[in-house]
Amino acid sequence: MKKTVALIVGTRPEAIKLAPVYQTLLRSETLQPFLLSTGQHREMLAQTLAAFELKPEADLALMQANQTLPDLTARVLQAMTCWLHANRPSAVLVQGDTTTAFAAALAAFYARIPVGHVEAGLRTYDFAAPWPEEMNRRLADPISRWCFAPTTLSRDNLLAERIPSERVHVTGNTVIDALLWMRSRQRQATADPVARARRCGIPKVMAARYFGSAPARWILVTGHRRESFGEGFENICKSIHAIVEQHDEIGVVYPVHLNPRVQEPVRRLLGGNPRIALIEPLGYEDFVWFMDRCHFLLSDSGGVQEEAPSLGKPVLVMRTTTERPEGVTAGTSRLVGTDPAAILHESRILLGDTTEYAARAALRNPYGDGHTSGRIVAVLERELAGDTFA
Ligand code: UD1
Ligand code: UDP
Repeated sequence: MKKTVALIVGTRPEAIKLAPVYQTLLRSETLQPFLLSTGQHREMLAQTLAAFELKPEADLALMQANQTLPDLTARVLQAMTCWLHANRPSAVLVQGDTTTAFAAALAAFYARIPVGHVEAGLRTYDFAAPWPEEMNRRLADPISRWCFAPTTLSRDNLLAERIPSERVHVTGNTVIDALLWMRSRQRQATADPVARARRCGIPKVMAARYFGSAPARWILVTGHRRESFGEGFENICKSIHAIVEQHDEIGVVYPVHLNPRVQEPVRRLLGGNPRIALIEPLGYEDFVWFMDRCHFLLSDSGGVQEEAPSLGKPVLVMRTTTERPEGVTAGTSRLVGTDPAAILHESRILLGDTTEYAARAALRNPYGDGHTSGRIVAVLERELAGDTFA
């Protein structure tokens, strides 16, 4: 009988990054996946899983509007504990640094079920940024039996924290598996770009101007980090407004995260501008399509920093520090924080200096080769064979 590996997803990035592991486990001769959602996100998670034609096999449905960190953490820990005791999978996989990832890992640790942490070892060494994610991943790694580090740098971070080397596996990041798979599907699609942009919520005039036969350049924006709530978001919005004011032809497409603390300032400060499209969060297939067409990205997202280099798109990272320094070192991303002067200065370079733009767009992706899930499943198959926990 095959042993069950429970994959725990709560938010959009976890779904994207565990979907390829799920697909790979389906082909295993000794293991089988079980997709469990904590429901930390609702609409955004369902939308993301749908892009991979996946549905959770069980859903703890925990999201509440404007949820707080302590409440959510407690609810995930309790609900996960009940589920684990009732179902006893052979192993649990968590991904990244969300409340779901940390609290589910802790629940599995208490239930004495081995945990694998996908995307282990990322560090800023600043507990305030990103907050609370830096703490979540710092707590998840030591209780994980398998730490799947995307790069040698993340492996070294784990070894420096005295995580035993036999628990650490350098695998690449599964996001590249997901991205390449989604991109190959795009190539088969023949949709009319203007019609597709319209379907995704881009207003008629902007769709013709930025997605028509001679498209003008436009910037893709995402933002949701808790440490930027308040003044940070006000500054981000003012910067976007100023970019559009200072560059006649440039447009902005901004799929706005559903967190009310993001929605409010973004819609108040950027709504109604004829060259800024504020749209609903995009399904992953559509978001990849938009990334492929934008001039560059302005984002505080972790996943976007990893994906954009595979599509030849520079990223200005609206954060003061990053756990993904490989991209900064390679030159694919640059940190601009939420300071309008820095955002405007770096945007001007990417819009005005064609040589610099071409050099940054041509860099190699340091985060993976598209075969990460296979490496993760191979480790699990080998180590779960005859496992005493099972
Ligand atoms: C969470 C993660 C963050 C991750 C991000 C991905 C934590 C602490 N934060 O942040 O690391 O980068 O997801 O997007 O785990 N909401 C909806 N519908 C949805 C999703 C969210 O309405 O589908 C609203 C709800 O009001 C919810 C709020 O957004 O209470 C915040 O959601 P939450 O998951 O707590 O935080 P995120 O900011 O999304
Ligand atoms: N993404 C998406 N739709 C959007 C915006 C982002 O599918 O409208 C994808 C993006 O490609 C990336 C992931 O969501 O893979 C990043 O999610 P988010 O920024 O919410 O979280 P983070 O990566 O910062 O944890």
